[in-house]
Amino acid sequence: MNIAVITGASSGLGKEFFKQVIKRYPNLDEVWLIARREEKLKELAGEYPNKNIRVIALDLSDLRSFDILDTVLQKQKPNIKVLINNAGFDRAGLFREMNTSDILSIINLNVTGMTIINRLCLPYMNKGSYEIISGSIGAFVPNPWRTVYSASKAYTRFLARSLREEERKRGINIMLLSPGNMDTEMNDRSKSKGKLSLFPYLDLEKETIKSMKKAEKGVAAYTPRLIYKIYRVFGKIVPSALAVKVASVESSVKDQ
Ligand SMILES: NC(=O)c1ccc[n+]([C@@H]2O[C@H](COP(=O)([O-])OP(=O)(O)OC[C@H]3O[C@@H](n4cnc5c(N)ncnc54)[C@H](OP(=O)(O)O)[C@@H]3O)[C@@H](O)[C@H]2O)c1
Repeated sequence: MNIAVITGASSGLGKEFFKQVIKRYPNLDEVWLIARREEKLKELAGEYPNKNIRVIALDLSDLRSFDILDTVLQKQKPNIKVLINNAGFDRAGLFREMNTSDILSIINLNVTGMTIINRLCLPYMNKGSYEIISGSIGAFVPNPWRTVYSASKAYTRFLARSLREEERKRGINIMLLSPGNMDTEMNDRSKSKGKLSLFPYLDLEKETIKSMKKAEKGVAAYTPRLIYKIYRVFGKIVPSALAVKVASVESSVKDQ
């Protein structure tokens, strides 16, 4: 059974990936959608009555969810052709004032959840399969006022690159997608203020299609839009002691 698995499918980027996966791969036997809000996932699945969509409502920041997913995988033994490892959580603010629960949510989902999804799914991926991992431009330079989120995405970046090297030998491509601003529940454009709001918002339809094409071709990393590509180079060549001052998102947070 050939399937696609999409985490964080109930909104934003993951929801768009779901729509484009359905269009691009009409021969998949099933598409599995994972997020916490079951109703949203069911609603989405309902838009495609002729497709086999499996809704798996899981909180990926809760370790118990991994046993549930593992059990489903062991029972179905699918061939995961496409994995969109995308669920993520973000909270900005001065670190010493952040809620501990928010800090843990970021780490538990963006670091632990993303990692264990890899561990559970990769054994069911084979030659010709690919994975897209949602990173962020926040990984290019440490971000004061978004410390935990940017650190979580730096972890993602390292994990994606080293995993890619391991899996390349099996003919599986792992691609890191590093988006800048996207108008989603996480980053509502109408409420965006400060320095960050000056940067362009991505066209989700266009970028998900481009991402899939690149992942199919074996590309390792994709950062949409020139300005964000320049930022990636900036993060590589400018000493972090200086870059960190530019990357501070204090103004965006204080204005909220
Ligand atoms: N928006 C941006 O500007 C931006 C920029 C760079 C990178 N990114 C990254 O892009 C990815 C997608 O973000 P987005 O912008 O599409 O945000 P979004 O609209 O808030 O979507 C996040 C998705 O993750 C799911 N999710 C959140 N917590 C979860 C949990 N504990 N367990 C399972 N699923 C959970 C949400 O579903 P439920 O609430 O139903 O669980 C939702 O489907 C994230 O990894 C994010 O870090 C976003």
